Amino acid sequence: MDTLVILDFGGSQSQSVARRIRGEHVYCEVLNYDATAAEIRAKEPKGLLLVGGTQDAFQEGAPDASEEVYAMGLPMLCLGYGARIAVKHFGGRLLGPVLEKRPAQITLESSRLFEGLTECDRFIDRADAWELPEGFAAIASAAAGVQAGFECAEKNIFGLQFYPEQNDPDGLRILSNFACNICGCAQDWSVEAFIEGQVEAIRRQVGDGHALIAISGGVDSSVCAALMHRAIGRNMHCVHVNTGLMRKDESVLIAKVFGEELGMDLRMVDAEARFLSKLAGVTDPERKRKIIGEEFIRVFEEEAAKLGQVDYLVQGTIYPDVLESRGVGGVVVKSHHNVGGMPETMRFTGLVEPLKELFKDEVRQVGEALGLPADMVQRQPFPGPGLAVRCIGEVTKAKLDILREADAIFREEIANAGLARKIWQYFAVLTNMQSTGVRNGSRTYDYTVALRAINSVDAMTATAVRLPYDLLETCVTRITSEVPGVNRVVYDMTGKPPATIEWE
Ligand code: XMP
Repeated sequence: MDTLVILDFGGSQSQSVARRIRGEHVYCEVLNYDATAAEIRAKEPKGLLLVGGTQDAFQEGAPDASEEVYAMGLPMLCLGYGARIAVKHFGGRLLGPVLEKRPAQITLESSRLFEGLTECDRFIDRADAWELPEGFAAIASAAAGVQAGFECAEKNIFGLQFYPEQNDPDGLRILSNFACNICGCAQDWSVEAFIEGQVEAIRRQVGDGHALIAISGGVDSSVCAALMHRAIGRNMHCVHVNTGLMRKDESVLIAKVFGEELGMDLRMVDAEARFLSKLAGVTDPERKRKIIGEEFIRVFEEEAAKLGQVDYLVQGTIYPDVLESRGVGGVVVKSHHNVGGMPETMRFTGLVEPLKELFKDEVRQVGEALGLPADMVQRQPFPGPGLAVRCIGEVTKAKLDILREADAIFREEIANAGLARKIWQYFAVLTNMQSTGVRNGSRTYDYTVALRAINSVDAMTATAVRLPYDLLETCVTRITSEVPGVNRVVYDMTGKPPATIEWE
């Protein structure tokens, strides 16, 4: 498969550029900017992109790719900081920023990079004035003579001080011109090709061995299990631990899809009582997380032991997890532990991570192609410790049951309003607050449920969704009349920051 490699100088652009290139059906991988020529060569790329960077290329000692990498002679597309550092690398001069954080109309000269495009508006995060190295020519200009792009025809090196994939779908043409016309990549990356290739790779790795996966109902583990099943059939064993902290009917859906419809070897473990007794009296959120994580591994290990010889542990690691744990471009590593992490004391011949090259939306596409239901494939993010962090204070079965019912009503109403796919995350929280109310003429002293709906790109920041008032009213009426123990419903309008998405 034809491949492009992105050298990432930091910021979030590398991932979005990689996603867009894959969207053009060209396979693309992200490596840290200081990857060696040998590491890059191992990917057999047909071209390189230098992307991202919040640093100042103008400064002495600004991060750069090694001379050996430039000397590989591959076509290069350098974006943002990448363009400035390339100018410097080839002996040009940077003269400091002239445009910052504003949209600009950009005039494009005739270049192979711009085939099919005329001019465009782009948001410029930063553009420097520069003196281009010998053999380089300006190919894009913004107002007041600012050069927004260059090419070196002889070396097949191109640079842009704006991000072609941002704001304008037409800009994708620049990426596909580079990938297909300049690097000569075939557009041979697709979900179907991925599945076919992975099925073969899994069979090669696992052979007649047995593999085990914990499925939580989350997108990644579900898609991973279905893909593994396609490759090795009944040698793929799934364990689903019902912690008692799942949302309403989630375990039922898992049993239906994996057990009945796909006919997989699925072990359902009812560990509700175990988890709730460990959580009894615990109110500190981080203690809750720790207890749940540890207990999960214990239950999982016990189930694995019952299976006898299992050679491989399967995990639904996806590409952003890989990039984050590698710390590519300085991305902050998530502090949240994922329930279902690698049990350290277990002995396996190896680990299988068939989704580790995929972005989240690609994982969803693979799930759809494998026939998983939309409810599972489009599922919103859900915290590993489940409803425990949405049940404020002590976690009890009675409180969880109230929360499950309120949450199910909220989700149902969001779906009825056609908003399910338009909101990043929405859920109910059982606040630990009880207040006075009246029901059928009698005084009540019941819980307050908080509803939360947020939009986000990466969960690092979030804004509360302006839900229709009618929808909120319906939810209030239904929750207070259908869920015993609730006499008050509030809507949380706080963004992140200052709040977090979850209440605990
Ligand atoms: P916060 O609450 O930190 O949440 O704004 C950011 C995203 O992470 C999810 N979340 C968790 N995920 N284990 C997880 O696997 C956890 O302990 C955890 N806590 C929060 C949250 O749902 C949101 O999508």
